[in-house]
Amino acid sequence: MEAPLLQVENLTVRFGGLVALRNISFSLKEGEFLGIIGPNGAGKTTLFNAISGAVLPDRGKILFQGRDITSFPPHKRARLGIARTFQTLRLFSRLSVADNVKLAEGITYPIYAPILSLPSYQKGERELEESAFKLLKSFQLERYWPRPANALPYGERKRLEIARALALKPKLLLLDEPTAGLSHQEAISLIEELHNLRRKFSLTIFLIEHNMRIVMGYCPRIIALSYGEIIGEGSPEEIASNPAVIEAYLGEKE
Ligand SMILES: Nc1ncnc2c1ncn2[C@@H]1O[C@H](COP(=O)(O)OP(=O)(O)OP(=O)(O)O)[C@@H](O)[C@H]1O
Ligand SMILES: [Mg+2]
Repeated sequence: MEAPLLQVENLTVRFGGLVALRNISFSLKEGEFLGIIGPNGAGKTTLFNAISGAVLPDRGKILFQGRDITSFPPHKRARLGIARTFQTLRLFSRLSVADNVKLAEGITYPIYAPILSLPSYQKGERELEESAFKLLKSFQLERYWPRPANALPYGERKRLEIARALALKPKLLLLDEPTAGLSHQEAISLIEELHNLRRKFSLTIFLIEHNMRIVMGYCPRIIALSYGEIIGEGSPEEIASNPAVIEAYLGEKE
């Protein structure tokens, strides 16, 4: 059988005395659109930080395409095909929309590539420009090309951040609440767009999402996290009828 794209084994992350993730294990198959839910502070972002390399676990392993990446630094994971967006926007706000994407596309191009003799050094400015334009067009952002990123409306900035992540040509895209702050309509169209992109770029998507209607409607499989532990995993129906999940969302039993 083919190895899962991502495999998380017995992952524990502590911050001082706080256990943010406790013994988490799950795997993600290529092409999946996996959702993760959980109350505030459940550990969702910490899990993304551990997968992308921003946080090193105290225990456990992370395998990507069968390879142990547990101690890899973030840039090495990005090069292997793990890209992410952040819960709060982290665009290069004074750079143009075009440059935000071009920078990510050619991230190894101007500075590192000659040193490391990476193939991307072959890429010329022209080529970067063309693929940046194509990518922005698929997000209907091409008309903002020369504008500074911070001049865009909020919803467009959220989409630009996703476009920038895709410029890294990832295999796995980690999205931390991409629909937060969007209207319901904007949120729905963003998620539909992601579904299309997933097919187009043969992406695997792992989505943190607070809006239940969205996760339930679009993610065939969902993981529920509470106080750093997986309390449920399965189809939307299974999650919706899972007593531990219901309890976590409705508060403590008396
Ligand atoms: N760098 C850090 N240092 C110390 N504590 C942290 C750090 N990052 C997260 N935490 C703590 O770990 C726990 C999990 O936080 P995390 O941000 O992963 O939750 P979350 O599920 O993403 O929540 P939210 O829905 O509010 O985004 C919280 O108690 C948080 O305060
Ligand atoms: Mg979070």
